[in-house]
Amino acid sequence: MLVLGINAHHADAAAALYADGRLVAAVAEERLNRIKHCAGFPALAVAEVLRIAGVSLADLDEVGIARDSRANLVAKAGYVLKHLGGIGKVAKKRIKDRAGLAGLEEQLCEALGAPRGNLRAKVRRVEHHVSHAASAFLCSPFERAAVLTLDGFGDFASCLAAVGESSKLKPLWRVTYPHSLGILYTAICQFIGYDRYGDEGKVMGLAPYGEPKYAAFFERLLRFKAGGRFELDLSYFNHHTEGVETGTDEYGSPHFEHLFTRLLSKELGPPRAHGPAETITQRDRDIAASLQHRLEQAFVHIARALHAKTGLTDLCLAGGVALNSVANGKLLEQTPFKRLYVQPAAGDDGTAIGVAAYVSAKAGQPRFEVRHAAWGSRFTDEEIAREIGDFVGAHHAAPLKVTQLAEANLLRETAAEIAQGKVVGWFQGAMEWGPRALGQRSILAHPGHPGMKELLNARIKHRESFRPFAPSILEERLSDYFESGHPSPFMLMVYRTRAAKRAELAAVNHVDNTGRVQTVNKYDLPLYHGLISEFGRQTGTPVLLNTSFNENEPIVCTPAQALDCFARTQLDAVVLGRHLILKDAQRPLANEKQQARKRNNRVPI
Ligand SMILES: [Fe+2]
Repeated sequence: MLVLGINAHHADAAAALYADGRLVAAVAEERLNRIKHCAGFPALAVAEVLRIAGVSLADLDEVGIARDSRANLVAKAGYVLKHLGGIGKVAKKRIKDRAGLAGLEEQLCEALGAPRGNLRAKVRRVEHHVSHAASAFLCSPFERAAVLTLDGFGDFASCLAAVGESSKLKPLWRVTYPHSLGILYTAICQFIGYDRYGDEGKVMGLAPYGEPKYAAFFERLLRFKAGGRFELDLSYFNHHTEGVETGTDEYGSPHFEHLFTRLLSKELGPPRAHGPAETITQRDRDIAASLQHRLEQAFVHIARALHAKTGLTDLCLAGGVALNSVANGKLLEQTPFKRLYVQPAAGDDGTAIGVAAYVSAKAGQPRFEVRHAAWGSRFTDEEIAREIGDFVGAHHAAPLKVTQLAEANLLRETAAEIAQGKVVGWFQGAMEWGPRALGQRSILAHPGHPGMKELLNARIKHRESFRPFAPSILEERLSDYFESGHPSPFMLMVYRTRAAKRAELAAVNHVDNTGRVQTVNKYDLPLYHGLISEFGRQTGTPVLLNTSFNENEPIVCTPAQALDCFARTQLDAVVLGRHLILKDAQRPLANEKQQARKRNNRVPI
C-alpha cells in the first residue's frame, strides 16, 4: 500500500512516501528548488519521493495533506463571536489558504506532468497538529507515550497534548489561536533584528551570551495556566488584530510582517533593525536570554502537566518550537519524563511524514520507527564519478588531487585530514530529512582545534561569530563527554559538556559549556560511525565537529552542488562516495559563477 504525505501551501513544503507501512523517502522542497523554507506546492519533492520509490502517481493508494480547515471549528466559532472586530484579515487569509488547497488532485497531476484523472488515490486531510503528533509518536520506538506538539499556528491551534498508544492518537487538550509559544518566540526574534524565517535557532544560540534580566517582564508576557495551558498578553502582539501576513523575502523564502506592537518598545526600548552582528547590544542578548528562559519554563510547565495527566515517562515532541534543542534537553533534567523522541523534521516539513504515517496506520499498516534521517535523494557511484570528471575538467589548471579509495582507506585518510586541522566536505548516501546535516551532507572538522569555530564562521559559513557548531559523537561514548546518557540521533538535544572534556571539545563547546549533540549509532549510520571511530583512534577523541554542507543556502543535495560549494569556499577537501578530492588551500579554485549557478539549478529528476 502506497501513501503519499505532503505539506503544501505552508512554509517548509515537503513530501514523504510510505510503502506497506515503511517509510521509503522524505524530501523537503527547499533542497530541490534551492529556496530556503519555501512554501507553495512541493512539486519537485513529490516527484522525487516517487522517483526514489520507483512508482508513479497512478500507483498511489492514498494521499494525505497535513491541513484541515474543518479542524477546531468550535474554537474558531468561539473566537469569531468574541472578537468580531479583529477577525477580518485573519478570515481573509484563511479563505486564501483554502483557495491554495483547492484542486489538490490537479496540482499533483500538474506537478508530475501527468494527465488529469491519473490520480486514483483518495486525498485525505489531517489536522496540522495531529500530523505533527503522528510524526512524533508513530515514528518513535514507544508503544505508549505522551505526545506534545508546539508551533506558531496550524489549523487554529498552537499546541496539542495527546497520548499515543499502538497506532492511535488520543488528543487531550489544545491551546488555540491567538495564544502561541511560536508566535512569542518569533515576535521577540523580530524585535531584536532576527526577522528572517527560521532565525529562531540563531537567537537560541545568542541567548547564552546574555542574562535573563527581563525575566519578570516575560512572566507577564507569557502566563501559565492550570493543566499545562498558557496565554500571551495580547497587548504586545498584533497577529490577532492584523493576521499573520506572509509574503516572500528577496530570496523567495517566507516572510512574516512584525508580530509585536509598539507597547513592547515601552518595556524594552526601540527594536533593533535587521543588520550586521556587530550591532547586537548586550540588551539584545539579555532579551534573547530572557525569552529562552521563559520558553524553557513553558516546556517544563506543559510537560509536567502532561505527565501528571498521563503518568507516562516517555514523551514524543514535534512542531517548530520542538526544534529548540536547549529546551528539549531541559525536559529530561526538570520533568519526570525519562525518554524523549523528537523526529528529525520537527518543523512543518515533518507534517508530510506525519500525515503519511497517520493515513498509513489508519489503513491498518504497521508502524515504522524512524532511527536515522537518510531518506532523501541519493546518487550512484557512476553519477558521482561523472560529476567529479566534469568538475576536474572545468578546473583543470587548479591543484586538485582526486583519489578513489576502498572504505577502510577512505576513512583513514579522511580522518587524518581532519586530525591535521583540515575542513572536509562529506557527501554520502541519501540526503538528510529535516533541518540538520547528520553525516550525509556535512562539513566536518576537528572538534578541539583552537580557532576552528571562528575559522569556519568567517571563512566557510560566512555567518555571525557567535554561532556555535555541533558535535557528532559515538553513541556509546556520549556520557564520557556530556552529562547525559540519552541518545540524540537528530541533533535536537543540548547537553552540558563534562568539565574535564571542555578543552578537548573547544570548537563545539558553546559559551555556556553545552553542546547540541548528535549521537551516532553503529547500526543506523555505519559509515559515519566508522569515520568518527577512526578519528577517535588517531586523536583519542571520538567526536567530530559537524555542520551543514552549505554556504548561506539550503544544504547541498547533488554532487554538483557539493562540488560548487567546495569551489566557492575555503574547504580543504571533499569526500563524495569513495572519492577523496584535496585542494591546495594556498591556491583557491577560480570561482566560476556561471557554471556554479547552472549546477545549483540542476535537480535530481
Ligand atoms: Fe506546525
